[in-house]
Amino acid sequence: MDPKLSLLLVICMLTGITANKYDEFTYNGFKRSELYLDGIAEITPNGLLRLTNTTRSQRGHAFHKVPLHLKNSSDGNVYSFSTCFVFAILPEYPDVAGDGLAFVLSPNMELPGALPKQFLGLFNSTNNGNSANHVLAIELDTILNIDFGDINNNHVGIDVNGLRSINAATASYFIENIGEFKNLSLISGEPMQVWVDYSNLEKKLNVTISPMSVPKPSHPLLSSFMNLSSVILDTMYIGFSASTGSSVPSNYVLGWSFKMNGQAGALNLSSLPSLPSKKHGRKLASLIIWLSLGVVVFITITAFSIAYIIRRKARYAEVLEEWELEHRTHRFSYKELFKATKGFREQNLLGVGGFGRVYKGELPTSKTEIAVKTISHGSKQGMREVVGEIASNSQLRHRNLVQLLGYSRRRGELLVVYEFMSNGSLDKFLYDTSKPTTLCWSQRQNIIRGVASGLLYLHEELEQIVVHRDIKASNVLLDGEMNGKLGDFGLSRLYDHGSDAQITHVVGTFGYIAPELTKTGRATTRTDVFAFGVFILEVVCGRRPIMQQESPDLHLVDGVWRSWRSGVILEVADARLEGDYNPKDVELILKIGLLCSHPAPAARPTMRQVMQLLDGDLSLPEIPKDGRGEELEES
Ligand SMILES: *[C@@H]1O[C@H](CO)[C@@H](O)[C@H](O)[C@H]1NC(C)=O
Ligand SMILES: *[C@@H]1O[C@H](CO)[C@@H](O)[C@H](O)[C@H]1NC(C)=O
Ligand SMILES: *[C@@H]1O[C@H](CO)[C@@H](O)[C@H](O)[C@H]1NC(C)=O
Ligand SMILES: *[C@@H]1O[C@H](CO)[C@@H](O)[C@H](O)[C@H]1NC(C)=O
Ligand SMILES: *[C@@H]1O[C@H](CO)[C@@H](O)[C@H](O)[C@H]1NC(C)=O
Ligand SMILES: *[C@@H]1O[C@H](CO)[C@@H](O)[C@H](O)[C@H]1NC(C)=O
Ligand SMILES: *[C@@H]1O[C@H](CO)[C@@H](O)[C@H](O)[C@H]1NC(C)=O
Repeated sequence: MDPKLSLLLVICMLTGITANKYDEFTYNGFKRSELYLDGIAEITPNGLLRLTNTTRSQRGHAFHKVPLHLKNSSDGNVYSFSTCFVFAILPEYPDVAGDGLAFVLSPNMELPGALPKQFLGLFNSTNNGNSANHVLAIELDTILNIDFGDINNNHVGIDVNGLRSINAATASYFIENIGEFKNLSLISGEPMQVWVDYSNLEKKLNVTISPMSVPKPSHPLLSSFMNLSSVILDTMYIGFSASTGSSVPSNYVLGWSFKMNGQAGALNLSSLPSLPSKKHGRKLASLIIWLSLGVVVFITITAFSIAYIIRRKARYAEVLEEWELEHRTHRFSYKELFKATKGFREQNLLGVGGFGRVYKGELPTSKTEIAVKTISHGSKQGMREVVGEIASNSQLRHRNLVQLLGYSRRRGELLVVYEFMSNGSLDKFLYDTSKPTTLCWSQRQNIIRGVASGLLYLHEELEQIVVHRDIKASNVLLDGEMNGKLGDFGLSRLYDHGSDAQITHVVGTFGYIAPELTKTGRATTRTDVFAFGVFILEVVCGRRPIMQQESPDLHLVDGVWRSWRSGVILEVADARLEGDYNPKDVELILKIGLLCSHPAPAARPTMRQVMQLLDGDLSLPEIPKDGRGEELEES
């Protein structure tokens, strides 16, 4: 035998790893799958796993046929595992929930005695909560059941041996750039992705959920410390369970991957089978009546054609008010943007932000590449000022500002059009570990200088001062040559009046907000300089302004400050730079960052001074030690 191979075999034997191809699988659709189906579960001709059909009070199960050995026989520890699946719940009638579905680990594939309805096809009233069940389930529960202590009718829960969840939360996902959770409706009919990760080392079970268009959020929705040793038996089956009650939603699973001792393979979202259209096939019975009445058919056809024409018109319908006429030159027609983004289709989606979605498009006539940000906007209040601001900001031209091209408006929706930036936002380059290359020092220096120059233009080179209000890495976009351009200005007033109650009067992003702004609520050029200072530190250190809880320096600024006071300022520079820079340059830029993000507004330089400092035309003043300085000395 090849000596290398036998060595590998010995290692495998020693570590107890057996090469089992069933420890890992990925199904993008279930056309060719090894599933055991039970109850009313079925696989549709196009490869969807449909757990429940429209028969009432039934259950449906689907299990991976091959059992898993999830336990290390020598020490009884449960192995780490990870799974990921896409599901969709299509309610029978809009907004009428059924009972939900669950991802299950169970010692058998039948779950004998399990009842439908609120028992989700998992348990019955006698065995619910019994530790002899050895069942672990992640429930996607759409009914508020007080008997089981449910928190509401739209939650995700971790269930051990019974339906009383040991941990549960309203279905929601973490939005990276605003650092908050956003609610999701499980019964929206939209496909959503769920990740369940168990780490044996940490003894932690994480559950994460997000809409299909959003990549896995960094923060799980549920994270529970759990010792699964007593729950998991040597042999377990994994799968799904769902039930119908008096309401019969269709519960679908579109794709599923699993892996033991590793990260479950990513699903190929573009190759998943598609869901039946929501309206389709709902009222077959009424259709028969229509058919029997020949005359009515004729009328219906006529009616449908009229409806079609009306709908076609409504599709492109936009709102145009008299006051808007003066902004006509900056106004795009909705039809034009609809065509440019190929009907706002998913493939054109560039990202989802706190305020809406951003699509890539190409203007049909000029072939200009654009980015269209859609912002849903409930109230009319403030719209006039916002549009005015967009129109006037469309006249701003600077090579370090993302060019605002104009806007469009429909009922409850504002669309803002920008030039397209091929390299996307800077934060991706700083934090997204999947990007193969990291930014080198000269690129970072160039980006900082560029943003400074764009901001100087807004602050000092226009007739009227423009305060940006939301400077941060995710608002800096990179063009094909990696030049940084500041984006997303001109919407601050909309955000002020926004319907989102969590972002009321203090506009900005947590971590970049100057201390005086929280007191006065007034954004000024100095509060912009503060955020710019935080931004500089972020780019040099490659770290977010607010750290994970575990870190000793919660705030990036405090951490840099501390290192500077201890005379080791260079230690904070991003390790990925591997020391490939001129230490003097890095030190200068870090100190400029500290000066800008100084707690005392008067101590901060103006953007003109910042430019001079960056160019070496002004020598760096003493950084005042008041405020934060003293506090740190005592601690
Ligand atoms: C199983 O447990 C033994 C004893 O604790 C340990 O040496 C071994 O590495 C474990 N195997 C795996 C695959 O974790
Ligand atoms: C649901 O599935 C079951 C089992 O496959 C079948 O007997 C029943 O007729 C189906 N009901 C409907 C309404 O399709
Ligand atoms: C509940 O399920 C168990 C098997 O797990 C069965 O023995 C028992 O009879 C069932 N109880 C009811 C009320 O159906
Ligand atoms: C999310 O849903 C929960 C429960 O329905 C509700 O209490 C909460 O206010 C919602 N949050 C937002 C931001 O809408
Ligand atoms: C679970 O989430 C926590 C918090 O984000 C993280 O620290 C931990 O590594 C995660 N564990 C697993 C198994 O994904
Ligand atoms: C987990 O539970 C098993 C059996 O109940 C026990 O032997 C083991 O010590 C526990 N591990 C931890 C880390 O609590
Ligand atoms: C995903 O599926 C699409 C369509 O079936 C295919 O063209 C593409 O190559 C797949 N991507 C990967 C990474 O497998």
